[in-house]
Amino acid sequence: MAGALPPLTTIVAEPWADFGLIDSGHGRKYERYGAVRVVRPEPQAMWAPASDNWDPDATFVPGSDEEGGGRWIQHRPVPSDWPLSRDRVRFHASLTPFRHLGFFPDMAPQWDWMRARIGQGPADEAEVLNLFGYTGVGSLLLSETGARVVHVDASKKSVEGGRANAALSGLAERPIRWIVDDAAKFTAREVRRGRRYDGILLDPPKFGRGPEGELWRLEEHLPLLLADCRRLLDERSRFLVLTVYAVRMSALAIGELVRQVAAGLGGTVECGEMAVREEARGLLLPTAIFARWSR
Ligand SMILES: C[S@@+](CC[C@H](N)C(=O)[O-])C[C@H]1O[C@@H](n2cnc3c(N)ncnc32)[C@H](O)[C@@H]1O
Repeated sequence: MAGALPPLTTIVAEPWADFGLIDSGHGRKYERYGAVRVVRPEPQAMWAPASDNWDPDATFVPGSDEEGGGRWIQHRPVPSDWPLSRDRVRFHASLTPFRHLGFFPDMAPQWDWMRARIGQGPADEAEVLNLFGYTGVGSLLLSETGARVVHVDASKKSVEGGRANAALSGLAERPIRWIVDDAAKFTAREVRRGRRYDGILLDPPKFGRGPEGELWRLEEHLPLLLADCRRLLDERSRFLVLTVYAVRMSALAIGELVRQVAAGLGGTVECGEMAVREEARGLLLPTAIFARWSR
């Protein structure tokens, strides 16, 4: 396996009806989630904003601790949750204590890409594994193609949120297995069961805990988890997508890792940055890094 990775790719989430990055700058971002406009801290937006006249419904004010903490201040009453759409999938947004809105819009181009890969074959025969799946927007968009989906997350509340989103989308009867488990444990069990998947999506946090308190540390545990993911892929498999955020890590590092893992499968590996396009000026706000294999 000689050679180097191809040049880095930038994957851009464009605005859609229910989401847009309106403006950004001076360490903050101004976004719309349906009819609700919010301002959140964004350390990478070091530039000046397009406008000084932001008029949000709510602002997230961070605590003194950089890793977390802080609270939402509502300038106008915001519902406890409200419905949004992406394509035919509907899901709940809310002002979460973790400063996000209950889903990650920068994932949209990855969802589209996986949907296209599934569409290249008989979709209803495809089986996709979504690890660290959170509230299931990705799982529902993948399921909506016709694929069978296994959704795994350590948080019972997130998985319940995923089921609620499935019901809201009219997809409650779809073949989606909603599993509360530790991602690494579940994947190892699937390997022992001799299972296979057509596609795998992993969106691991830097640090996390499984339902039994199992420790997840990205730098320590990602190589082993990817090795197990590889055992679930075979000559018919179509993709593996890894996205990583909030860590000091280069896309080249995860790109090389995925390239080694995918060796022997054929196909191609690409890696790079994920970004959201700002509506005011079209500039790109970086959000995460990714590496993905496909055939
Ligand atoms: C920020 S989310 C991923 C976002 C999601 N893929 C999406 O696009 O909506 C990270 C998720 O990892 C889950 N998590 C953390 N540690 C875990 C573990 N050990 N096993 C499984 N899930 C874990 C958390 O509960 C959380 O839902």
